[in-house]
Amino acid sequence: MNKLIVSLLLTVGISGIAHAAGDATAGQAKAAVCGACHGPDGNSMAPNFPKLAGQGERYLNKQLHDIKSGKRTVLEMTGLLTNLSDQDLADISAYFASQKGSVGAADPKVVARGEALFRGGDLAKGLPSCTGCHSPNGTGNAAAGFPHLGGQHAQYVAKQLTEFRKEEGGRTNDGDTKPMQSIAKKLSDEDIAAVSSYIQGLH
Ligand code: HEC
Ligand code: HEC
Repeated sequence: MNKLIVSLLLTVGISGIAHAAGDATAGQAKAAVCGACHGPDGNSMAPNFPKLAGQGERYLNKQLHDIKSGKRTVLEMTGLLTNLSDQDLADISAYFASQKGSVGAADPKVVARGEALFRGGDLAKGLPSCTGCHSPNGTGNAAAGFPHLGGQHAQYVAKQLTEFRKEEGGRTNDGDTKPMQSIAKKLSDEDIAAVSSYIQGLH
């Protein structure tokens, strides 16, 4: 191979993996259209629209790329990301990550079961605790791309867990190693309701 081609390939390769750093200030204006559903600061009111405020930047950026490419289907967002560049997605992710997430309340009837599952898993079923990846207070691990869960709407959380549990892994964007598919398969409907309610009040 001649030297010019090799150096061209190297340049393309390197710029291809370099991630644009997000600018939260620029992202605020670009996120205006998102506010209708997710709330202007990312704290949505409707329980089926996920809160984005305080979510990890890396996780947000990955979801936006997956939603834009169709790897993760979000019908409500059809066409919304088509004209946004990688830089736009990075800026929007930085903006929502910089906002403070609000917290809801857990249902007192199921909170004990939800907390036990979240913190201790279920040894008999081989279910790991959620805290190992999503942290004891639900903040997740931003650098690793493990999402922040604390305060998220229970209805949205329950929907994701139910999708993860489906045989074909309804939601196909479950990271590269698909940890949530095998975890969700060990959760009953009652487990999902309890742990989702607990997460809604977690902070
Ligand atoms: C018409 C309503 C609507 C609008 C407008 C909208 N979204 Fe969404 N968005 C949704 C819904 C509904 C979901 C969750 C789908 C599901 O249940 O999996 C979602 C999911 C997401 C997620 C994944 C969250 C997570 O925790 O995994 C991100 C990130 C996101 N939206 C960002 C945006 C951005 C950025 C914009 C603006 C460019 C936007 N959305 C505009 C409805 C909307
Ligand atoms: C081994 C690490 C690991 C463990 C343990 C784990 N998760 Fe996750 N979870 C992840 C990763 C990684 C993702 C994001 C996948 C992706 O990138 O799309 C995720 C995503 C989620 C989401 C979707 C968040 C959103 O905003 O859409 C929910 C809900 C969730 N996990 C709940 C749980 C619960 C409840 C438990 C415990 C029963 C648990 N997780 C245990 C790694 C883990």
